[in-house]
Amino acid sequence: QNLYGQSRANSQGIDLSNEYRLQALQAELNQAGAKQYRAESLTAAEIAQQAVHPVKNPANLSEQIGEVAYAAASSVPAIIDAALDAQGAWQQKSAAERAAILRKTADLMEAQQATLLYLAIKEAGKTLTNAVGEIREAVDFCRYYAQQIEEFVPNHAAARGVIVAISPWNFPLAIFVGQIVAALAAGNAVVAKPAEQTSLMAHAAVQLMLEAGVPVGAVQLILGEGDIGAALTADERIAGVLFTGSTEVAQLINRTLSKRADMPLLLAETGGQNAMIVDSTALPEQVVQDVLLSAFDSAGQRCSALRVLCVQDDIADRVIEMLKGGLKELNIGRPHQLDVDVGPVIDAEAQQRLLGYIERKRSVATKVTQLDIPADINDGGTYVAPTILELKDLGDLTQEVFGPVLHVVRFKAGELDQLITHINAQDYALTHGIHSRIDGQIEYIASRIEAGNVYVNRNIVGAVVGVQPFGGHHQSGTGPKAGGPFYLQRMTTLNPWRLPQ
Ligand code: NAD
Ligand code: ALA
Repeated sequence: QNLYGQSRANSQGIDLSNEYRLQALQAELNQAGAKQYRAESLTAAEIAQQAVHPVKNPANLSEQIGEVAYAAASSVPAIIDAALDAQGAWQQKSAAERAAILRKTADLMEAQQATLLYLAIKEAGKTLTNAVGEIREAVDFCRYYAQQIEEFVPNHAAARGVIVAISPWNFPLAIFVGQIVAALAAGNAVVAKPAEQTSLMAHAAVQLMLEAGVPVGAVQLILGEGDIGAALTADERIAGVLFTGSTEVAQLINRTLSKRADMPLLLAETGGQNAMIVDSTALPEQVVQDVLLSAFDSAGQRCSALRVLCVQDDIADRVIEMLKGGLKELNIGRPHQLDVDVGPVIDAEAQQRLLGYIERKRSVATKVTQLDIPADINDGGTYVAPTILELKDLGDLTQEVFGPVLHVVRFKAGELDQLITHINAQDYALTHGIHSRIDGQIEYIASRIEAGNVYVNRNIVGAVVGVQPFGGHHQSGTGPKAGGPFYLQRMTTLNPWRLPQ
């Protein structure tokens, strides 16, 4: 049983330490890679297609793995029409019927995980370990929300209507699926707009939902860039938007929705400027291990990733020295190889943005330490060397830097309150880490820091569905937390007189 008294097993994933399983998996991945993929929108409406775009492997841009046909934004009204048509029948299904379809989706994802793993690696640039985690999380969302709708969301909850789900590329399966299945569980029809960078994965996932029994129309996939998201959110017939992505785009959507007379639902899960406070009693070996994982796993492309390490000056020299040693031990390379810790960033645009940022920071950093990228992988892949920037103070670190860049600052014992104030003043509130062996100190920081998820004496990434509900507040999002007990309730309206559906 977990914290909330629910008994439900999380997905076990794949045991990558089992040599036989690993060999079989390699063969499955080779088979999954033996074809070119093609994705187009999956809708119940007639839509206008735009140009077809090639999909390249970020670890090797000369490798094309498939192509994607974007839809024209003019297709949006017809897609919303089709969603409105499908809404009634989907809502009429019992919670048990919808839950069964979600569980079947989870089973299909596990059964067909080779394709999903392949796409996570080759389209999103995820390491094999991260790719396995991605599928586990998506499976967990399906089973968790299935359980929630059956057991915890009251019977008199009614669907809201057509929900638009807009997702980012950094969790191309987990977040994409999590949003959709939450809205579907509660009886809403969903129009899903994934990040353009990971359209193949989204297409594969929606095909599995359709195969599991979600009617065409109750879930529709529309592929394209931000203009599609803008058109969907501007359609006044939608009941709400589930958005995960940058704070800037969430603010745009918020402005669009606020023009309406009614007040549609907006759940936004956005960026962070996540810090970790390490005091002089912390165990340096543990700190280094947790910092490296928090800052550089997934090439730093997690909203939860560590951006600012704050170390008390008594142990700062030792921790920073060990950190640099640990950095040099990271293996940056082609993400399909099991021993690779850090893969590429998502695309050339992100790479250029990050390289530009690091260059600009050189003049203010007291020290810059970077991992060397082997020449053979640097050529043709969108790699950014994991980088540690030592700074005199937090200064103007207000923008999220979404990649493998860690800022390090020192603080003195008497400056803790000032440090907490400075971190909170950035107005993000997503994840935060504390390393200390004094319970009172942990309590003191945890109760003052603004963050949705606070982690103590461990890394700060990889929240587990149903166990560690995930999400922030202020500029990091609206809540409620995904994978937690209050999320589904926001997908519904509650009318105590309404007959059970
Ligand atoms: P993004 O905001 O650029 O894009 C997200 C989605 O919004 C994409 O599907 C994009 O096409 C769409 N979009 C773009 N312009 C739009 C518009 N005007 N109207 C509607 N939709 C529009 O974000 P990204 O680069 O894909 O993802 C990285 C960001 O996501 C980071 O800031 C990261 O912190 C955040 N993120 C947050 C969480 C969380 O749970 N808090 C999880 C993952 C990622
Ligand atoms: N749920 C993801 C994590 O915790 C964002 O890393």
